[in-house]
Amino acid sequence: MPLLEMKNIVKEFPGVRALDGVSFTLEAGEFHSLVGENGAGKSTLMKTLSGVYPYGTYEGDIIIEDQVRQFRGIRDSENAGVAIIFQELSLVKELTVGENIFLGKEPSKLGVINWSELYHRTSKLLQDLNLDIDPRVQVGNLGIGQQQLVEIAKALSKEAKILVLDEPTAALTESEVETLFAILRKLKARGVGMVYISHKLGEVFEMSDRITVLRDGKTIGTHNAAELTKEKVIELMVGREVGNIFPECHHDFGETVLEVKNLTAYSIDAANKKVVDGVSFHVRKGEVLGIAGLMGAGRTELLMSIFGAWPGKYSRQVVVEGRNVSLDTPASAIREGIGFVTEDRKRFGLILEQTILDNMTLAGLKRISGAFLTNRTRETIAANGPMKSLRVKANSPLTVAGTLSGGNQQKVVLGKWLLTNPKVLFLDEPTRGIDVGAKQEIYAEINKLAEQGLAIVLVSSELPEVLGLSDRVMVLHEGRVTGEFVRKEATPEKVMAAATGNH
Ligand SMILES: Nc1ncnc2c1ncn2[C@@H]1O[C@H](COP(=O)(O)OP(=O)(O)OP(=O)(O)O)[C@@H](O)[C@H]1O
Ligand SMILES: [Mg+2]
Repeated sequence: MPLLEMKNIVKEFPGVRALDGVSFTLEAGEFHSLVGENGAGKSTLMKTLSGVYPYGTYEGDIIIEDQVRQFRGIRDSENAGVAIIFQELSLVKELTVGENIFLGKEPSKLGVINWSELYHRTSKLLQDLNLDIDPRVQVGNLGIGQQQLVEIAKALSKEAKILVLDEPTAALTESEVETLFAILRKLKARGVGMVYISHKLGEVFEMSDRITVLRDGKTIGTHNAAELTKEKVIELMVGREVGNIFPECHHDFGETVLEVKNLTAYSIDAANKKVVDGVSFHVRKGEVLGIAGLMGAGRTELLMSIFGAWPGKYSRQVVVEGRNVSLDTPASAIREGIGFVTEDRKRFGLILEQTILDNMTLAGLKRISGAFLTNRTRETIAANGPMKSLRVKANSPLTVAGTLSGGNQQKVVLGKWLLTNPKVLFLDEPTRGIDVGAKQEIYAEINKLAEQGLAIVLVSSELPEVLGLSDRVMVLHEGRVTGEFVRKEATPEKVMAAATGNH
C-alpha cells in the first residue's frame, strides 16, 4: 500500500478543466518528480492534496496511509502529515524569519508567546539546515533566494511524512541547491515521501526515483527515472520533439543606447557595505548584453539602481542616447524608455488580483491609450498581441493574473513591458519557472526584439541561457566586473572562472 494515492482527480475552474482524471502515487521514502509544461496542472494537483482546494471542490479520492481523506483546509492536511512549499512564496514580508516559521504555532507559556524559545528553535532549525540567516531579521529584507530557504525551513519544522516542493530551487544558488538536496536525502532516508515539481530536469534526474509527466491536466505516464532520458521527458511533456532551444542570432549593433558610469550601490541593512562597486558598461541598439555572476554578485542590485528602484543608497551616472538623465524613480526610467522584467514578479511585476489586461497595460498605460486612459478597445488589442505571441495560456485578457499558472504569469510580466515600447529592456531571470517549450518561445522573442533594434540587458543564473542569447557577456563577482567576453570567446569555463573570482 503506497503512502499516498490520488485517484482520478478532476478539478475544474470556470472555463478550465485543470485536472482531468489524474492519478498519482507516492511511496514512503520515495522522491517522485512531477513535471509538465506551464499550466499542465502540477500546482493544482498538489493544492488538492494539501487542502487548499478542500474536499468537495474536486472529484476523485485522496488516500493517505490507507485512509480516504477529506481535508477542509491546509490545517487538516498538515495534521495528516502533509507539508507543502508553494511555488509563490507565502511568507509575510513584515514579520521576522522566526515569526514566519512559527506563525500560528508560536511556542507560548500561559498564553504569552515565548520569544526566546521561538528564536532559539528558529536558530536551531536554521543551523540544522546549514543556513546562515539571522532569525530576527525581517523577511522582506532578505533576498529572494534566502526567502525561499526560510520557506523550506518552515515546511521542515512541521515534520511531515509527505513533503511537496513546488519549484523550490528557482531562486537558489548552486551551493544552496546542494544544501537543500543534502537535507532532502536525509529526509528520504527517514522515510519521508517527496513530491518534487521542477522545470530543471538536471535536478529531477539527479534526485528522482520516479517521474510522472502531466500534460493538459492528464497523466501522460509514470516511469522509473532510470528508464528515462531528458530528451524523452521533454518529448512527453510537450508532445513533440524539441530541437535546439536557442535561436540563430544575427544582430547588427547600432549606436550606444544606454551607458552607465561608475555605479556603486550599498546594502540595505549594512549601509557601508557595497553590493555593487564602481561598475561601468554600455549596451548598443540591437545588442543583447548578458550579465553573469553567482547569486549575491550584485546583478539585480545593479539593474535596480539604474532603474531608480534600489531601496538602499546608490550613485551613478546614466546616459540614454547621449543625454545625461537622472532616473530618480522607476517612473522616470520608464519615461526614458527603460523596461524592467524583474525576478520577483509579485513585488514589481504583477498584481495578482488584477486581470491580464490591467497588468499588461499598467506600466504602459499612457503610451498605449494615448490621451484617453480608459480606451479599453485599444488596450485589449495591445494586450492581445503579446498574449498571442508569447502564447499565454488563458481564456481571455480579462482572466485574473493570480489564476494563471506560474510560467504564464511570467509571460504576462514580459508582455506588459513589451507594450511600453522600451529602447532598453532589462530582463532579470526572465525564464524562471518557465517550461522548456515556452522557454524556446521566449528566447525567440528576445532574439526578435534585438533584431528589431532593442537593446537588451539579460541577467540569468542559468549559464546556458546567458551564453545562448548574449552577444557580449559581462561577469560580476562580489559587485565588481571581473570579465567581459564577446560571444565567440564566452565559454562556460571562462565565465565561471570570472564569476568565482578566479580570473
Ligand atoms: N484559481 C484558479 N482559477 C482559475 N484557473 C486556474 C486557477 N488555478 C489554476 N488555474 C488554471 O489551471 C491550469 C493548471 O494550472 P497550474 O497552476 O496547476 O499549472 P502548473 O502545471 O503548476 O504550471 P507552471 O509550471 O506554470 O507552474 C492552468 O490553465 C491555470 O490557468
Ligand atoms: Mg505551478
